[in-house]
Amino acid sequence: MEKNLARSWWKEGIVYQIYPRSFQDTNGDGVGDIGGIIQRLDYIKSLGVDIIWLNPIYKSPNDDNGYDISDYRNIMEEFGTMEDFDLLLSEMKNRGLKMVMDLVVNHSSDEHEWFEASKASRDNPYRDYYHWWPAEKGTPPKRWSFFDVESNAWKYDETTDAYYLHYFSVKQPDLKWENPKVRREIYDMMDYWFQKGIDGFRMDVIPFISKDTTFPELPEQYNGEFIPYYASGPKLHEYLREMNQEVLSKYDIMTVGEAIGVSTEQALDFVDEERKELNMFFHFDLLSLDRASGGGFWMREDQWKLTEFKEIHSRWDAAFAEKGWGSMFLNNHDFPRSVSRWGNDSQAHWYNSATMLQTFLLTMRGTPYFYYGEEIGMTNIRMDRIEDYRDINTLNRYETLSKNGADLAVFMENEKDASRDNARTPMQWDTTENAGFTSGKPWLKVNENYQEGINVEVQLSDKTSVLNYFRSMVQLRKNKLTLVYGAYTLLLKDSEDIYAYTRTLGDDRCLVLLSFATRTVSVNLEEVHFDKAKLLISNDEDHADRIKSDAHFTLKPYQAMVYELF
Ligand code: GLC
Ligand code: CA
Repeated sequence: MEKNLARSWWKEGIVYQIYPRSFQDTNGDGVGDIGGIIQRLDYIKSLGVDIIWLNPIYKSPNDDNGYDISDYRNIMEEFGTMEDFDLLLSEMKNRGLKMVMDLVVNHSSDEHEWFEASKASRDNPYRDYYHWWPAEKGTPPKRWSFFDVESNAWKYDETTDAYYLHYFSVKQPDLKWENPKVRREIYDMMDYWFQKGIDGFRMDVIPFISKDTTFPELPEQYNGEFIPYYASGPKLHEYLREMNQEVLSKYDIMTVGEAIGVSTEQALDFVDEERKELNMFFHFDLLSLDRASGGGFWMREDQWKLTEFKEIHSRWDAAFAEKGWGSMFLNNHDFPRSVSRWGNDSQAHWYNSATMLQTFLLTMRGTPYFYYGEEIGMTNIRMDRIEDYRDINTLNRYETLSKNGADLAVFMENEKDASRDNARTPMQWDTTENAGFTSGKPWLKVNENYQEGINVEVQLSDKTSVLNYFRSMVQLRKNKLTLVYGAYTLLLKDSEDIYAYTRTLGDDRCLVLLSFATRTVSVNLEEVHFDKAKLLISNDEDHADRIKSDAHFTLKPYQAMVYELF
C-alpha cells in the first residue's frame, strides 16, 4: 500500500475559492457581499465541492482589496455585518460545506489601531508591534516592496522620525512577530474565529513572518532574488510550531500556506506531519512558469513548454509522496484565468481546454482548488485602458513606469496577460445585464463573453457544458479514492503534446491522458502494460473508445480521457 494514506477530510475534499468582491452583489452597490454568497450556496453545493475558501472579508480600507486589515474581528462594511457572517457560516454548515478563511498576519493595515498607536510615539506600548528603524541610524538597508512605487519597503514617517517596514504597499506595515505580544494577539484572534466554527485558514505570505530584525545588508546571493530571503527568516518554523501548539492543534481544521519563495527541498519543513506546522501549502513554481525571472509580473518572452509544466508537477508530487500533502491549483485571485493561461481560450479550443484542465486538477494527488468561475471556463478579460484597472499592482507599476518614461504600450500589453484583475472580474451568472452580478455599476468590468455562453444559467441547461463536465468529473474523483491517494507515475515524459500518467492504489489503476496540443495526436503507451482499458470519462466523447485493448491512443486537440486499467 502507498504510504501517504492517513485519510482526512481536507485531503479528500475539493476547495472552491470565492473572491467575495466579485461573486454576487445583493444591494446594487456594485460590490459582491456576504448576502450574495448565501444566495448562491445551493449552486456551490450542487457543484460537489466541499470547502469554501473566502478571500479576506475583514474590515479594511481596501488598499489591496482586503489584504490590508484594520480590524481582524470585524467584517468589511461593504460585505455586510457579523450577523451576515454568522448566517453564512450556519447556512454552510446546514449544507455540509466547510469554511476556510484568509489569515493575513504578515502585515496589517496602517489604519489598524495597533499601527495608529505604534506610530504615535516612540515609547507607546504598541511601538514594538511593527518594525521601526530610527532615522538617526541613517538610511535603512535596502528591502524590496511588492506594491511600492519605488519598490522600497521602508517608509519614512515624520511623527517619530523613523522608517517602518512594509513588504507590500505603504498601507500594509509588517507586523513584528518577534514580539511575543503580537503573536499572542494573533493566536487569540485565530481562536476567536475557530470558536465561531470556521474550518481552517489559508495563510497569506506566511513564510515572510520572521525577520532578521538587525536588518543586515541583504546577503549577496539574494541580490535581485529577495523573495527566497524573505521566505526563510530565522524563526519561521519556531513560530509555525508555536501557532500549531497554541491554536491549530486544538481544532479539527485545515491549514494551507501561501508559500511564496519555498522550494521542493524545503517543502517538508512546513508540512511533514511530525513537525506539527501546516497541512498544505501553495508553491509558486507553476505560477512563475510563464513569467520572466525576478519574481515580477512580466511575462517571459518565449512560450512555456509542456515538459516544464510536467516537470514542476512531477517534482512537487514526489516531494509529498511519503509525507505531507500537496495542493493542486491553476489560478487564483493573483494570477490570470487558467483556461487563458494554460489552455486555449479561442473559440475552437475553449471547451476542450477548460475541461481538460479540470480533469488534470481532479486526477492529481493533492487537494484540488478551484477558483470561482473556473467551473464555467471564465477567461481573461484583457482590458486595454488603464482607467479600467483596479488592482494596486497594475496601477502602481503603471505609475512607476510612466515616471521613468518607459514604453507604456508594452506594459499594457503585458497586463492583458499578467494583471491580477483578469481573475477578479465579476462572476458570470446569466445573460441579464452585468451577467447577473449586480443591478448597479460593477466595481470592475464584467467580461462581455457572459453573453456568449460563459455563464452559469446557460451552462446548467446544456448537458455538454463546461459546468456539467466539471460536475461529472468531481463525482468521478469522489467515487475513486485512487484519484485522491494513488501513487502518480509520469509517462511520455518528453512529449510536448500529451501529459500522461497513471494513478495506482493497491490493485486499482487509472490512466490519465491530457492533450495540450491544437492538433490531433496519437501516442503509444506500451510501457503501461494492461489487458483492457475502460473509459471512465472524456471531454470529447465522439472520439474515445469505451473499451480498448491496444496501446495506441488518439487524442483530439485538448482532449482529456481517464481510463481504468485491468
Ligand atoms: C498575497 C495575496 C495577495 C496580496 C498579498 C499581500 O500574495 O494573495 O492578493 O496582495 O499577499 O497581502
Ligand atoms: Ca453589495
